[in-house]
Amino acid sequence: MGHKITILPGDGIGPEIMDAAVSVLNHVAGLYGVDFEYTTKLVGGCSIDKYGAPITDDTLQSCAESDAVLLGAIGAPQYDDLPHDQKPEKALLKLREALGLFSNLRPAKIYPALVDASSLKAEVISDTDIMIVRELTGGIYFGTPRGYNEERGWNTLVYTRPEVERIAKVAFELALKRRSHVTSVHKSNVLDSSQFWKEIVHTVHADYPGVTLEDMYVDNAAMQLVRNPRRFDVILTQNMFGDIISDIAAMITGSLGMLPSASMGEKHALYEPVHGSAPDITGQNKANPIAMVGSVAMMLAYSFDMTEAARLLDQAIDNILAAGYRTADIATPESKVLSTTEMRDKIIDAFSRVYDEKTNVELTTS
Ligand code: IPM
Ligand code: MN
Repeated sequence: MGHKITILPGDGIGPEIMDAAVSVLNHVAGLYGVDFEYTTKLVGGCSIDKYGAPITDDTLQSCAESDAVLLGAIGAPQYDDLPHDQKPEKALLKLREALGLFSNLRPAKIYPALVDASSLKAEVISDTDIMIVRELTGGIYFGTPRGYNEERGWNTLVYTRPEVERIAKVAFELALKRRSHVTSVHKSNVLDSSQFWKEIVHTVHADYPGVTLEDMYVDNAAMQLVRNPRRFDVILTQNMFGDIISDIAAMITGSLGMLPSASMGEKHALYEPVHGSAPDITGQNKANPIAMVGSVAMMLAYSFDMTEAARLLDQAIDNILAAGYRTADIATPESKVLSTTEMRDKIIDAFSRVYDEKTNVELTTS
């Protein structure tokens, strides 16, 4: 029986990058003899247009019954004035909540070939390799009471002990597989919820003597990220701070179009690029599919234990960039600019090549 994947292309460039990602995935599956079964559903603005709601129970159920969910992008300007509960973005929040996706992993890794695509100096950003661990189903995004009236608007920032403990564990476990350093980002000099966060993270840290833990206020973290990003390994932070910090970290890598993400819970996982639906370039075959393909690589590694395929996919992308191929968002005057579909085909080609090389090495060394 195949692995079940729910495909949610979403809005804007979502369908274009999803088409590229699924083509790449099918190619990988063919080489590894793995079978994926896809169910495609609407989410976001396209679901509002068809069903009057950003996500339906049918879509949620399909996701809940799948081994993994792949999501493209959500949102479009024409929905900006809808009430919060009806906006396309609500679909994402509902998915996170319904599937219990409390842990959001956002790697910000610089591709050597792209050090000059960032607005920051190459010597500042080279060799940056950060893993942001963002708590995703708690904090001010979900706290009650919330609301607004003529006179007041309010939200509640609340975390419970188990919520902080489980996300802290995720960060320390990841650190063990990386450079064994965790920066807990909060605002404990002002917020009670952050003092609470800080103390619990220290308690969990007692179980991880091999990992170093530092505390950093979020304003300072924002500054250090653009001043000396290499100093970070794993960044552990709450929902809202993680949202902001991860966009800053994204720009270190040159383009939001490069960053994949994984959102995981006890039972479910969803993979999506960090970038949005890019209405300005929708339908023009210009979008950068690399973050979406990178999200497929994360899915292969985390949901299907196909770590070699994931590594080769990252390698294929590295090789393409090193050869000077770019989509428009990361192009320099010297680069060979590719459309979305051309980039898709290049990735498939490059994957075949790294896969063959690996197989040849295995044959000659065995
Ligand atoms: C993100 C997005 C979402 C968030 C929005 C669209 C709800 O900005 O995934 O970073 O704030 O979490
Ligand atoms: Mn965001």
